[in-house]
Amino acid sequence: MSALRRLAAAGAGLGLALGLGLGLVGCGGDTRAPAARLGLGHLATPQQVAAWNVDVDPRGRGLPAGSGTAVQGAAVYAERCAVCHGANGQGAGIFPQLIGRDPRSGFPFGRDPRLPRTIGNYWPYATTLYDYIHRAMPFTAPGSLTPEQTYGVVAYLLARNEIIPDTAVMDARTLPAIRMPARDRFVRDDRRGGREFR
Ligand code: HEC
Repeated sequence: MSALRRLAAAGAGLGLALGLGLGLVGCGGDTRAPAARLGLGHLATPQQVAAWNVDVDPRGRGLPAGSGTAVQGAAVYAERCAVCHGANGQGAGIFPQLIGRDPRSGFPFGRDPRLPRTIGNYWPYATTLYDYIHRAMPFTAPGSLTPEQTYGVVAYLLARNEIIPDTAVMDARTLPAIRMPARDRFVRDDRRGGREFR
């Protein structure tokens, strides 16, 4: 088999393997893992997988060990976040406002798209705040905060949004127990069928 055909066939086998979600299904009976079959790359080590596997779901599954308070987080915020989001979380230009509880009732966001959507009036889970900040912020250096720094800055933002007291310790146990002010502003999308629905 020419090198080109072998590559094409191997590519098809890889596509099939990915499609089935099985890393070991090959083409032409070659059951070796794609890395060995193609002579390319290497299997991800458990450490490499762990480094990427950092997502936290709404129930808090995936939250790491560690903890932080608003006092600790205030320093992180001032150093790493305020330059874009403002010293008081007021935002600026394309950098979103993070602090602010108003409007405190109803759901006027659809009627007035200029209303700022903040952690205090729009974010449904404290757990996903950890997830987002740890994975995506600071904007220019995502993933650079340690779990301690992330718990701290999450605590700081929750305290400034009048959701927790300044002294509250945020960790894998306390964060999922917080009920966010905007929690009731969202419902699970359980629609089925119909032209306009998924
Ligand atoms: C260089 C500028 C910059 C820095 C520094 C920065 N951010 Fe952001 N942040 C952004 C931008 C831009 C967005 C909007 C990203 C988007 O919508 O995709 C954002 C979005 C966010 C959001 C989501 C807001 C929402 O309501 O959707 C949070 C929360 C947040 N940042 C927290 C932080 C924290 C905490 C830090 C410090 C650790 C930080 N950011 C540092 C630029 C920055």
